[in-house]
Amino acid sequence: MTTDTRQAMALLFDRTAKTYDALGVDFFSVFARELLDRAGLVPGERVLDVGCGRGAVLFPAAELVGADGSVLGIDLSAEMIERTAKDIEDRGANASVSLMDAQEPTLPDASFDVLLASFVVFFLPDPVAALRSWHRVLRPGGRLGVTTFGADDPRWAAVREVFKPFVPPELAWTLAIRAGLFSSVEGFGQAVESAGFTGVTSEERVCPVKFADPGHWIDWSWSQGQRMFWELVPEDRLDAVRQAVLAELEPLREPDGSVVLAQTVRYTLAHRA
Ligand SMILES: C[S@@+](CC[C@H](N)C(=O)[O-])C[C@H]1O[C@@H](n2cnc3c(N)ncnc32)[C@H](O)[C@@H]1O
Repeated sequence: MTTDTRQAMALLFDRTAKTYDALGVDFFSVFARELLDRAGLVPGERVLDVGCGRGAVLFPAAELVGADGSVLGIDLSAEMIERTAKDIEDRGANASVSLMDAQEPTLPDASFDVLLASFVVFFLPDPVAALRSWHRVLRPGGRLGVTTFGADDPRWAAVREVFKPFVPPELAWTLAIRAGLFSSVEGFGQAVESAGFTGVTSEERVCPVKFADPGHWIDWSWSQGQRMFWELVPEDRLDAVRQAVLAELEPLREPDGSVVLAQTVRYTLAHRA
């Protein structure tokens, strides 16, 4: 992964920003709440939300720290930043956003009480370097809260297989955001420790995510990072791939026609000594 990869990811998220987290699926906001419950923000704290996207963490964090606190969201997608800045203004939220790389944030040392990063660290070329820079911007005693994915829902394996033939070797890492460093609680915990953090704890929770029907899942997958897999499919194969996904999801339908994904999410907390 190179700097160009980072820009490519940012451009991918630019294309998702319009519908991101806006299709009636309880996903990013639900997991952001879970992260915030664990991070224990208190009024007056200075919070950095890394890879803030459309503000799933940022807006509730701003409410928790109140008028005496502050929340800064950073993201490398200009479209995410622009839309979230507009929402901040419209909602009069006590938060701000800035276009910045998560791996090397250009922020002063020891300037935050809490750093939260929800579903972003696995997009970075060097996650440990990112964790080191996150350690640097936290004050001594400052807290880190990171969400990553746990094991995939085995019932959905066939859907993932549909996309695999279209993923070129240089993008194989995108199929492995649960591999390597992220494959186990222990492995990721060690990575966090190697970046200088102490008191690392991790908890995995499985949460059912409901889609009204298989087509709803397809629409939703275009609205977030999985869009990349659709964009790798040649134009003339798109309909066939869509039909293949629908066919794999059909047997998973619940009596009400919905499909449910059992999403495992890992919450990792640590602090700067
Ligand atoms: C899966 S989204 C998560 C957004 C938000 N935290 C949430 O929970 O809804 C990942 C976000 O990370 C951002 N991102 C990816 N690579 C980045 C980088 N190198 N620097 C900053 N942001 C990045 C994307 O633009 C996107 O907004």
